[in-house]
Amino acid sequence: MIASTALLWAASAVLTAARKPPTPSGGYTLKDSFNTTNFFREFDFYSQGDPTHGFVTYVDARTANREGLAGYASGGVYLGVDYKAKSNTAGRSSTRVESKKAWNRGLFIADIKHMPAGTGESQGCGLWPAFWTFSKGKWPDNGEIDIIEGVNNQNHNFVVLHTGSTCKVGNAGSLARTRLVTDDCIGHTGCKQAADSPSTFGADFNANGGGVYAMEWTDETISVWFFPRNSPLVNNTLSTNSPDPSKFGQPLAKFVSAGCSISEAFKDQSIIINTSLCGDWAGNPAIWDANSECKAKAATCEEFVGENPEAFTNAYWIINEIKVFQRDGSGKGNGTEHGGGRGNGNGNGFERRRGLRVLGRE
Ligand SMILES: *[C@@H]1O[C@H](CO)[C@@H](O)[C@H](O)[C@H]1NC(C)=O
Ligand SMILES: *[C@@H]1O[C@H](CO)[C@@H](O)[C@H](O)[C@H]1NC(C)=O
Ligand SMILES: *[C@@H]1O[C@H](CO)[C@@H](O)[C@H](O)[C@H]1NC(C)=O
Ligand SMILES: *[C@@H]1O[C@H](CO)[C@@H](O)[C@H](O)[C@H]1NC(C)=O
Repeated sequence: MIASTALLWAASAVLTAARKPPTPSGGYTLKDSFNTTNFFREFDFYSQGDPTHGFVTYVDARTANREGLAGYASGGVYLGVDYKAKSNTAGRSSTRVESKKAWNRGLFIADIKHMPAGTGESQGCGLWPAFWTFSKGKWPDNGEIDIIEGVNNQNHNFVVLHTGSTCKVGNAGSLARTRLVTDDCIGHTGCKQAADSPSTFGADFNANGGGVYAMEWTDETISVWFFPRNSPLVNNTLSTNSPDPSKFGQPLAKFVSAGCSISEAFKDQSIIINTSLCGDWAGNPAIWDANSECKAKAATCEEFVGENPEAFTNAYWIINEIKVFQRDGSGKGNGTEHGGGRGNGNGNGFERRRGLRVLGRE
Protein backbone atom coordinates (compact mmCIF):
# COMPACT_ATOMS: atom_id res chain seq x y z
CA MET A 1 0.00 0.00 0.00
CA ILE A 2 2.65 2.44 1.06
CA ALA A 3 4.92 1.36 -1.76
CA SER A 4 2.27 1.74 -4.46
CA THR A 5 1.28 5.18 -3.18
CA ALA A 6 4.91 6.21 -3.30
CA LEU A 7 5.19 4.86 -6.86
CA LEU A 8 2.13 6.76 -7.99
CA TRP A 9 3.47 9.87 -6.40
CA ALA A 10 6.85 9.36 -8.05
CA ALA A 11 5.22 8.83 -11.46
CA SER A 12 3.15 11.99 -11.22
CA ALA A 13 6.18 13.92 -9.99
CA VAL A 14 8.10 12.85 -13.10
CA LEU A 15 5.23 13.94 -15.33
CA THR A 16 4.92 17.37 -13.77
CA ALA A 17 8.69 17.82 -13.52
CA ALA A 18 8.83 18.10 -17.28
CA ARG A 19 6.72 21.25 -17.12
CA LYS A 20 7.66 22.97 -13.91
CA PRO A 21 9.94 22.60 -10.90
CA PRO A 22 8.81 19.92 -8.43
CA THR A 23 6.25 21.25 -5.97
CA PRO A 24 6.88 20.68 -2.30
CA SER A 25 4.61 18.36 -0.37
CA GLY A 26 1.13 19.77 0.03
CA GLY A 27 1.61 21.55 -3.28
CA TYR A 28 2.32 24.88 -1.64
CA THR A 29 5.10 27.23 -2.69
CA LEU A 30 6.31 30.17 -0.66
CA LYS A 31 5.10 33.46 -2.17
CA ASP A 32 5.88 36.02 0.51
CA SER A 33 7.57 36.19 3.87
CA PHE A 34 7.46 39.12 6.24
CA ASN A 35 9.92 39.43 9.11
CA THR A 36 12.23 42.04 10.63
CA THR A 37 14.05 42.47 7.30
CA ASN A 38 11.05 43.84 5.41
CA PHE A 39 7.95 44.11 7.60
CA PHE A 40 7.65 47.89 7.82
CA ARG A 41 8.17 48.24 4.07
CA GLU A 42 5.41 45.73 3.30
CA PHE A 43 2.80 46.92 5.81
CA ASP A 44 1.21 50.38 6.01
CA PHE A 45 0.18 52.06 9.22
CA TYR A 46 -3.48 53.05 9.41
CA SER A 47 -4.04 56.24 11.36
CA GLN A 48 -7.70 57.11 10.84
CA GLY A 49 -10.60 56.66 13.19
CA ASP A 50 -11.60 53.16 14.21
CA PRO A 51 -14.73 52.20 12.25
CA THR A 52 -15.72 50.03 15.20
CA HIS A 53 -15.58 53.05 17.53
CA GLY A 54 -12.71 51.95 19.75
CA PHE A 55 -11.39 54.23 22.48
CA VAL A 56 -8.18 54.28 20.54
CA THR A 57 -5.99 56.62 18.51
CA TYR A 58 -4.22 54.70 15.76
CA VAL A 59 -0.92 56.48 15.10
CA ASP A 60 1.11 56.81 11.90
CA ALA A 61 4.51 55.23 11.35
CA ARG A 62 6.47 58.29 12.43
CA THR A 63 4.53 58.68 15.69
CA ALA A 64 4.63 54.95 16.38
CA ASN A 65 8.38 55.05 15.98
CA ARG A 66 8.89 58.13 18.11
CA GLU A 67 6.65 56.93 20.93
CA GLY A 68 8.02 53.41 20.96
CA LEU A 69 4.77 51.80 19.82
CA ALA A 70 6.33 49.94 16.89
CA GLY A 71 9.76 48.59 16.14
CA TYR A 72 11.72 45.44 16.83
CA ALA A 73 11.98 43.46 20.04
CA SER A 74 13.15 39.98 20.99
CA GLY A 75 14.10 39.25 17.40
CA GLY A 76 10.61 40.02 16.07
CA VAL A 77 8.37 42.86 14.93
CA TYR A 78 6.85 44.82 17.83
CA LEU A 79 3.41 46.49 17.57
CA GLY A 80 2.00 47.89 20.76
CA VAL A 81 -0.24 50.21 22.73
CA ASP A 82 0.76 53.18 24.91
CA TYR A 83 1.12 52.04 28.53
CA LYS A 84 2.57 55.20 30.04
CA ALA A 85 0.05 58.03 29.93
CA LYS A 86 -3.52 58.51 31.05
CA SER A 87 -5.74 59.20 28.06
CA ASN A 88 -9.10 60.52 29.03
CA THR A 89 -10.37 62.17 25.88
CA ALA A 90 -9.04 60.90 22.57
CA GLY A 91 -8.45 57.28 23.47
CA ARG A 92 -5.20 55.44 24.08
CA SER A 93 -2.54 55.43 21.33
CA SER A 94 -2.28 52.13 19.49
CA THR A 95 -1.13 50.58 16.23
CA ARG A 96 -2.86 49.03 13.25
CA VAL A 97 -0.99 47.83 10.17
CA GLU A 98 -2.18 46.34 6.91
CA SER A 99 -0.23 44.50 4.22
CA LYS A 100 0.26 46.31 0.92
CA LYS A 101 -0.31 43.01 -0.83
CA ALA A 102 -3.55 41.05 -1.11
CA TRP A 103 -4.03 37.39 -1.98
CA ASN A 104 -6.64 35.02 -3.31
CA ARG A 105 -6.52 31.59 -1.64
CA GLY A 106 -3.45 30.22 0.05
CA LEU A 107 -1.86 29.05 3.26
CA PHE A 108 -0.99 31.82 5.69
CA ILE A 109 1.41 30.93 8.52
CA ALA A 110 2.12 33.33 11.35
CA ASP A 111 4.75 32.64 13.99
CA ILE A 112 3.75 34.86 16.90
CA LYS A 113 5.78 35.16 20.08
CA HIS A 114 3.49 37.47 22.04
CA MET A 115 0.00 38.90 21.63
CA PRO A 116 -1.76 41.73 23.48
CA ALA A 117 -2.92 40.56 26.90
CA GLY A 118 -3.75 42.03 30.26
CA THR A 119 -1.45 42.11 33.22
CA GLY A 120 -2.47 39.56 35.85
CA GLU A 121 -4.57 42.09 37.64
CA SER A 122 -6.17 43.84 34.66
CA GLN A 123 -7.16 40.48 33.13
CA GLY A 124 -7.24 41.97 29.63
CA CYS A 125 -10.23 44.20 30.37
CA GLY A 126 -10.65 46.81 27.62
CA LEU A 127 -8.52 44.99 25.05
CA TRP A 128 -9.66 43.96 21.59
CA PRO A 129 -6.68 42.58 19.64
CA ALA A 130 -7.09 41.05 16.20
CA PHE A 131 -5.00 39.31 13.55
CA TRP A 132 -7.20 39.13 10.48
CA THR A 133 -7.64 39.58 6.73
CA PHE A 134 -10.06 41.62 4.64
CA SER A 135 -10.34 43.38 1.30
CA LYS A 136 -9.61 47.09 1.47
CA GLY A 137 -12.63 49.21 0.62
CA LYS A 138 -14.74 46.13 -0.11
CA TRP A 139 -16.08 45.25 3.32
CA PRO A 140 -18.12 43.14 3.77
CA ASP A 141 -18.67 42.14 0.13
CA ASN A 142 -15.21 40.61 -0.31
CA GLY A 143 -15.25 38.94 3.10
CA GLU A 144 -13.21 39.08 6.29
CA ILE A 145 -11.34 36.27 8.05
CA ASP A 146 -10.57 36.85 11.74
CA ILE A 147 -7.80 34.41 12.58
CA ILE A 148 -7.16 35.60 16.15
CA GLU A 149 -9.70 37.76 17.88
CA GLY A 150 -11.14 38.31 21.30
CA VAL A 151 -12.03 40.88 23.95
CA ASN A 152 -11.61 41.58 27.63
CA ASN A 153 -10.78 38.58 29.81
CA GLN A 154 -11.80 36.02 27.18
CA ASN A 155 -9.45 33.05 27.63
CA HIS A 156 -9.58 31.26 24.30
CA ASN A 157 -9.63 32.34 20.68
CA PHE A 158 -12.60 32.96 18.40
CA VAL A 159 -12.22 32.45 14.65
CA VAL A 160 -14.83 34.44 12.73
CA LEU A 161 -15.76 34.94 9.07
CA HIS A 162 -17.79 37.88 7.79
CA THR A 163 -19.45 38.04 4.37
CA GLY A 164 -21.65 40.46 2.43
CA SER A 165 -24.55 38.10 1.92
CA THR A 166 -25.87 34.97 3.55
CA CYS A 167 -23.19 32.29 3.74
CA LYS A 168 -24.06 29.25 5.81
CA VAL A 169 -21.27 27.03 7.06
CA GLY A 170 -20.77 23.88 9.08
CA ASN A 171 -17.70 22.94 11.16
CA ALA A 172 -17.34 19.23 10.37
CA GLY A 173 -13.72 18.18 10.71
CA SER A 174 -12.89 20.70 13.45
CA LEU A 175 -11.18 19.60 16.65
CA ALA A 176 -13.35 17.97 19.26
CA ARG A 177 -14.53 20.34 22.00
CA THR A 178 -14.47 23.38 19.69
CA ARG A 179 -17.88 24.89 19.04
CA LEU A 180 -19.69 26.59 16.17
CA VAL A 181 -21.36 29.54 17.91
CA THR A 182 -23.09 31.05 14.84
CA ASP A 183 -23.38 29.48 11.39
CA ASP A 184 -24.19 32.36 9.02
CA CYS A 185 -21.19 34.51 8.08
CA ILE A 186 -23.29 37.49 6.98
CA GLY A 187 -22.52 40.96 8.36
CA HIS A 188 -21.22 42.14 11.72
CA THR A 189 -21.99 39.00 13.72
CA GLY A 190 -20.46 36.58 11.26
CA CYS A 191 -20.03 32.86 11.65
CA LYS A 192 -18.00 32.11 14.73
CA GLN A 193 -16.06 29.11 15.96
CA ALA A 194 -14.82 28.99 19.57
CA ALA A 195 -11.49 27.33 20.34
CA ASP A 196 -11.28 25.17 23.44
CA SER A 197 -7.75 25.76 24.68
CA PRO A 198 -6.55 28.75 26.74
CA SER A 199 -3.12 28.61 25.09
CA THR A 200 -4.80 29.90 21.90
CA PHE A 201 -5.26 33.43 23.27
CA GLY A 202 -4.06 36.13 25.66
CA ALA A 203 -1.92 35.59 28.75
CA ASP A 204 -1.83 31.79 28.44
CA PHE A 205 -0.72 32.07 24.81
CA ASN A 206 2.14 34.30 25.94
CA ALA A 207 3.09 32.16 28.94
CA ASN A 208 3.77 29.38 26.49
CA GLY A 209 6.01 31.49 24.23
CA GLY A 210 3.14 31.97 21.79
CA GLY A 211 3.03 29.64 18.82
CA VAL A 212 2.04 29.36 15.22
CA TYR A 213 -1.33 30.06 13.65
CA ALA A 214 -2.00 28.68 10.18
CA MET A 215 -4.96 29.59 7.98
CA GLU A 216 -5.76 27.74 4.78
CA TRP A 217 -8.21 29.26 2.34
CA THR A 218 -9.36 27.13 -0.59
CA ASP A 219 -12.44 27.33 -2.81
CA GLU A 220 -14.28 24.93 -0.50
CA THR A 221 -13.09 25.58 3.05
CA ILE A 222 -11.39 28.04 5.39
CA SER A 223 -9.45 26.36 8.19
CA VAL A 224 -7.41 27.67 11.11
CA TRP A 225 -4.91 25.66 13.15
CA PHE A 226 -3.01 26.63 16.26
CA PHE A 227 0.26 25.03 17.30
CA PRO A 228 1.65 25.96 20.71
CA ARG A 229 5.37 26.74 20.80
CA ASN A 230 6.27 23.29 22.13
CA SER A 231 4.42 21.40 19.38
CA PRO A 232 6.88 19.30 17.33
CA LEU A 233 5.13 20.51 14.17
CA VAL A 234 6.39 24.06 14.75
CA ASN A 235 9.96 23.05 13.95
CA ASN A 236 9.36 20.10 11.72
CA THR A 237 6.73 21.37 9.34
CA LEU A 238 5.72 24.94 9.88
CA SER A 239 9.12 26.59 9.90
CA THR A 240 10.08 24.84 6.66
CA ASN A 241 9.20 26.15 3.23
CA SER A 242 7.15 23.06 2.41
CA PRO A 243 4.26 22.97 4.87
CA ASP A 244 1.62 20.32 4.19
CA PRO A 245 -1.78 20.96 5.79
CA SER A 246 -2.74 17.31 5.38
CA LYS A 247 -0.18 16.64 8.13
CA PHE A 248 -1.38 19.35 10.50
CA GLY A 249 -4.07 17.31 12.21
CA GLN A 250 -7.56 18.66 12.85
CA PRO A 251 -7.93 22.45 12.75
CA LEU A 252 -9.53 24.30 15.62
CA ALA A 253 -11.81 25.86 13.05
CA LYS A 254 -12.84 24.32 9.77
CA PHE A 255 -15.56 26.27 8.03
CA VAL A 256 -17.15 24.10 5.38
CA SER A 257 -19.55 25.67 2.94
CA ALA A 258 -23.17 24.66 3.42
CA GLY A 259 -24.42 26.19 0.19
CA CYS A 260 -22.30 29.33 0.08
CA SER A 261 -19.57 29.87 -2.49
CA ILE A 262 -16.37 30.54 -0.59
CA SER A 263 -14.65 31.66 -3.80
CA GLU A 264 -17.36 34.30 -4.38
CA ALA A 265 -17.58 35.44 -0.76
CA PHE A 266 -13.82 35.94 -0.12
CA LYS A 267 -11.51 37.87 -2.42
CA ASP A 268 -8.32 39.93 -2.42
CA GLN A 269 -7.54 39.58 1.28
CA SER A 270 -4.84 41.72 2.92
CA ILE A 271 -3.42 40.94 6.36
CA ILE A 272 -4.27 43.31 9.22
CA ILE A 273 -2.90 43.40 12.74
CA ASN A 274 -4.57 45.80 15.16
CA THR A 275 -5.11 46.34 18.84
CA SER A 276 -8.32 48.17 19.54
CA LEU A 277 -9.61 49.17 22.97
CA CYS A 278 -13.27 49.18 23.98
CA GLY A 279 -15.37 49.90 20.87
CA ASP A 280 -18.41 48.09 19.52
CA TRP A 281 -17.43 44.75 21.07
CA ALA A 282 -15.12 45.10 24.10
CA GLY A 283 -16.70 48.38 25.22
CA ASN A 284 -20.32 47.67 24.39
CA PRO A 285 -22.11 48.53 27.67
CA ALA A 286 -24.07 45.29 27.49
CA ILE A 287 -20.83 43.29 27.25
CA TRP A 288 -18.93 45.34 29.86
CA ASP A 289 -21.78 45.36 32.35
CA ALA A 290 -22.26 41.62 32.06
CA ASN A 291 -18.57 40.98 32.76
CA SER A 292 -18.27 41.02 36.55
CA GLU A 293 -14.43 41.10 36.62
CA CYS A 294 -14.17 44.05 34.22
CA LYS A 295 -17.20 45.88 35.55
CA ALA A 296 -15.68 45.77 39.07
CA LYS A 297 -12.72 47.82 37.81
CA ALA A 298 -14.62 50.77 36.34
CA ALA A 299 -18.14 51.79 35.37
CA THR A 300 -17.26 51.90 31.68
CA CYS A 301 -14.59 50.43 29.45
CA GLU A 302 -13.44 53.92 28.40
CA GLU A 303 -12.93 54.97 32.01
CA PHE A 304 -10.83 51.89 32.73
CA VAL A 305 -8.69 52.29 29.60
CA GLY A 306 -8.21 56.03 30.09
CA GLU A 307 -7.23 55.89 33.75
CA ASN A 308 -5.02 52.80 33.84
CA PRO A 309 -2.06 52.94 31.48
CA GLU A 310 -0.19 50.23 33.44
CA ALA A 311 -2.96 47.75 32.60
CA PHE A 312 -1.62 47.84 29.02
CA THR A 313 2.00 46.95 29.74
CA ASN A 314 1.54 43.57 28.05
CA ALA A 315 -0.68 44.84 25.24
CA TYR A 316 1.77 44.22 22.41
CA TRP A 317 2.39 41.83 19.54
CA ILE A 318 5.74 40.31 18.72
CA ILE A 319 5.52 38.75 15.29
CA ASN A 320 8.47 36.52 14.39
CA GLU A 321 7.37 35.92 10.84
CA ILE A 322 4.36 35.70 8.53
CA LYS A 323 4.59 33.54 5.44
CA VAL A 324 2.14 33.20 2.57
CA PHE A 325 2.10 30.07 0.42
CA GLN A 326 0.01 29.37 -2.65
CA ARG A 327 -0.55 26.39 -4.87
CA ASP A 328 0.79 27.10 -8.30
CA GLY A 329 -1.99 28.58 -10.36
CA SER A 330 -4.37 28.81 -7.42
CA GLY A 331 -3.63 32.47 -6.75
CA LYS A 332 -4.24 33.30 -10.43
CA GLY A 333 -1.56 35.94 -10.24
CA ASN A 334 -3.42 37.83 -7.59
CA GLY A 335 -0.77 38.65 -5.06
CA THR A 336 -2.07 42.12 -5.88
CA GLU A 337 -0.05 45.16 -4.84
CA HIS A 338 -2.43 47.77 -3.58
CA GLY A 339 -1.42 51.34 -4.12
CA GLY A 340 -1.14 52.32 -0.50
CA GLY A 341 -3.33 51.92 2.51
CA ARG A 342 -5.93 54.35 3.70
CA GLY A 343 -4.55 57.74 4.63
CA ASN A 344 -1.01 56.67 5.26
CA GLY A 345 1.17 58.99 3.14
CA ASN A 346 3.20 55.92 2.39
CA GLY A 347 5.24 57.17 -0.57
CA ASN A 348 8.01 58.38 1.70
CA GLY A 349 7.27 56.01 4.54
CA PHE A 350 10.21 53.72 4.05
CA GLU A 351 12.84 56.34 4.82
CA ARG A 352 11.14 57.11 8.08
CA ARG A 353 10.43 53.55 9.02
CA ARG A 354 13.94 52.38 8.32
CA GLY A 355 14.91 54.18 11.50
CA LEU A 356 12.48 52.27 13.71
CA ARG A 357 14.17 51.74 17.01
CA VAL A 358 15.00 48.49 18.61
CA LEU A 359 12.83 48.54 21.69
CA GLY A 360 14.47 47.19 24.77
CA ARG A 361 11.59 44.90 25.64
CA GLU A 362 11.98 41.23 26.12
C1 LIG B 1 12.81 37.20 5.95
O1 LIG B 1 12.08 37.74 4.87
C2 LIG B 1 12.86 37.95 3.72
C3 LIG B 1 12.01 38.72 2.72
O2 LIG B 1 10.85 38.02 2.38
C4 LIG B 1 13.35 36.60 3.20
O3 LIG B 1 14.17 36.79 2.07
C5 LIG B 1 14.14 35.88 4.30
O4 LIG B 1 14.46 34.58 3.88
C6 LIG B 1 13.35 35.81 5.59
N1 LIG B 1 14.19 35.29 6.65
C7 LIG B 1 13.89 34.20 7.33
C8 LIG B 1 14.84 33.81 8.40
O5 LIG B 1 12.90 33.53 7.09
C1 LIG C 1 -9.64 46.13 14.51
O1 LIG C 1 -9.95 44.76 14.41
C2 LIG C 1 -11.29 44.41 14.58
C3 LIG C 1 -11.35 42.91 14.47
O2 LIG C 1 -11.69 42.41 13.28
C4 LIG C 1 -12.17 45.11 13.57
O3 LIG C 1 -13.51 44.76 13.73
C5 LIG C 1 -11.96 46.58 13.72
O4 LIG C 1 -12.70 47.26 12.72
C6 LIG C 1 -10.52 46.91 13.58
N1 LIG C 1 -10.30 48.31 13.62
C7 LIG C 1 -9.58 48.87 12.67
C8 LIG C 1 -9.47 50.35 12.64
O5 LIG C 1 -9.01 48.19 11.86
C1 LIG D 1 12.59 23.98 18.01
O1 LIG D 1 13.86 24.54 17.63
C2 LIG D 1 14.40 25.42 18.57
C3 LIG D 1 15.66 26.06 17.97
O2 LIG D 1 16.49 25.10 17.44
C4 LIG D 1 14.67 24.66 19.88
O3 LIG D 1 15.20 25.53 20.86
C5 LIG D 1 13.36 24.06 20.38
O4 LIG D 1 13.60 23.28 21.53
C6 LIG D 1 12.70 23.20 19.31
N1 LIG D 1 11.36 22.82 19.77
C7 LIG D 1 10.94 21.55 19.79
C8 LIG D 1 9.56 21.30 20.29
O5 LIG D 1 11.62 20.62 19.38
C1 LIG E 1 -7.58 39.85 -9.03
O1 LIG E 1 -7.67 41.12 -8.41
C2 LIG E 1 -8.27 42.09 -9.21
C3 LIG E 1 -8.17 43.43 -8.49
O2 LIG E 1 -8.78 43.37 -7.24
C4 LIG E 1 -9.70 41.68 -9.55
O3 LIG E 1 -10.30 42.63 -10.41
C5 LIG E 1 -9.68 40.32 -10.24
O4 LIG E 1 -10.99 39.87 -10.43
C6 LIG E 1 -8.93 39.31 -9.38
N1 LIG E 1 -8.80 38.05 -10.12
C7 LIG E 1 -9.03 36.87 -9.57
C8 LIG E 1 -8.80 35.71 -10.44
O5 LIG E 1 -9.38 36.73 -8.42
